[in-house]
Amino acid sequence: MTAGSVLAGAAHPVAEGLLLRPFRDEDAPALIEAYRDETLRHFTLNPVDDAEQAAHWLGLQYRGWEQGSRYSFAVLEPDTGALVANVALKRATPGGPAAEVGYWTAAPARGRGVAPRAVEALTAWAFDTFAAEGLVRIDLLHQVDNLASCRVAEKSGYAFRELLTALPPEFPLDGHRHSRHRPAKPAGRHC
Ligand SMILES: CC(C)(COP(=O)(O)OP(=O)(O)OC[C@H]1O[C@@H](n2cnc3c(N)ncnc32)[C@H](O)[C@@H]1OP(=O)(O)O)[C@@H](O)C(=O)NCCC(=O)NCCS
Repeated sequence: MTAGSVLAGAAHPVAEGLLLRPFRDEDAPALIEAYRDETLRHFTLNPVDDAEQAAHWLGLQYRGWEQGSRYSFAVLEPDTGALVANVALKRATPGGPAAEVGYWTAAPARGRGVAPRAVEALTAWAFDTFAAEGLVRIDLLHQVDNLASCRVAEKSGYAFRELLTALPPEFPLDGHRHSRHRPAKPAGRHC
């Protein structure tokens, strides 16, 4: 797999399909615009306020791909090319059996199932791409006050697994861990 990977997200009853590709320098203005939203700022640790911070954020994404620790995708509307979301597979231990998915949707694009469709596309890609390395589980973590994110988990097939204790100052409230496991291969037919 390379940083040239491009994925397709499903269409939605009121929205076209989605295009997922790795971030590029040209995404900086849209990133800065997306991070103006208070809800996104509330649930993110590192907001992007200006060109310098955007360059830093993009640099983290590029290094993540190089190092195998973070595979982030810009989620675009195919027709307009507008950046509507960010979805990322985080691999704290590259090559390990578990990973984590993270995401946000730009405020004007919310409520159209963008995040669940992007998470679905990323999940299928990740289990396919990293099967040989033994990836078997992807976790989805959110704070208990993030009801929209809990709905994304449910709609993406990430089942609730456990309540997580708060870890202030980064995570001031308790959280949920949801997860999905790699689907078993269909059993071979013997007749
Ligand atoms: C959580 C988030 C990614 C959901 O993205 P989305 O693409 O709007 O996802 P959906 O369209 O499936 O909506 C999910 C829920 O958001 C809520 N929602 C619906 N329309 C909305 C709108 N216009 N604005 C805000 N929330 C809305 C609803 O509760 C919806 O659940 P429902 O399907 O049961 O009605 C998005 O709200 C977001 O980016 N929040 C800030 C960052 C964040 O919380 N990231 C996740 C950290 S764990």
